[in-house]
Amino acid sequence: MNNNPIGLFDSGVGGTSIWKEIHHLLPNESTIYLADSINAPYGYKSVDEIISLSIKNTELLLKMGSKIIVVACNTATTNAIEILREKFDIPFIGIEPAIKPAALKSSSKSIGILATQGTLNSILFSESLDEYKDHIRVTEVIGEGLVPLIEMGKIDDSEITILLNKYLQPMLKKDIDYLVLGCSHYPYLIPQIQKILPNQVTIIDSGIAVANQTKNVLIHNNLLSKTYQEPKLNFYTNTDTSTLEFLLNENLNKVSITIKSF
Ligand code: DGL
Repeated sequence: MNNNPIGLFDSGVGGTSIWKEIHHLLPNESTIYLADSINAPYGYKSVDEIISLSIKNTELLLKMGSKIIVVACNTATTNAIEILREKFDIPFIGIEPAIKPAALKSSSKSIGILATQGTLNSILFSESLDEYKDHIRVTEVIGEGLVPLIEMGKIDDSEITILLNKYLQPMLKKDIDYLVLGCSHYPYLIPQIQKILPNQVTIIDSGIAVANQTKNVLIHNNLLSKTYQEPKLNFYTNTDTSTLEFLLNENLNKVSITIKSF
């Protein structure tokens, strides 16, 4: 039993979509979330840069007492989690595009994946894809420009609609029946995406799976917090707090958001 916080980091605000699932499943757990927005997007950085930013974030989360680290960023997971696991003696949970459930459930045998360049080009992603690509058609599209707009809080903006149309139409032409969201920022675009996709296309993101995995690993390592405690829900950003406040709207009464340079 351990009352220390669960640490999470992302290249910015998107990982709050994962935080929400974790907090919903594990409401007693304290959390520390680092939004490295000053360095967003990670998706166009080199593998070495993504690794060194991930190490920096992990070191800070460990200094703040985290008992487990959730890499709430597909780009950081697919490029850095193996190195993090080698370097630090603490459990890590990562997030990867949910190719498996989409590939297994698809009737049209055609699925779409929207993710960052960093994720789609990573070795981990291409290894996961190898298992399925003989029996399923996979259309990968880089969501260029989406993360910076979400970082600005422009989730309902017409610029997003234009970009989403551009990225989703080629997938629809290939008759996809599942769309995998391979970036923790993108769940915030689901209402917009639903307006573009026909009803028969199912959208899959990895938030609930990551929350379940976090719970399992905490149980397995005897790290769940003790009986009921009033959880401390701390968020740190190295830019300004406005988009975090906007996205955490329904939780604002219980979270604390602080600007910190890191
Ligand atoms: N939330 C990050 C991810 O899941 C966004 C990556 C980026 O900053 O480009 O990939």
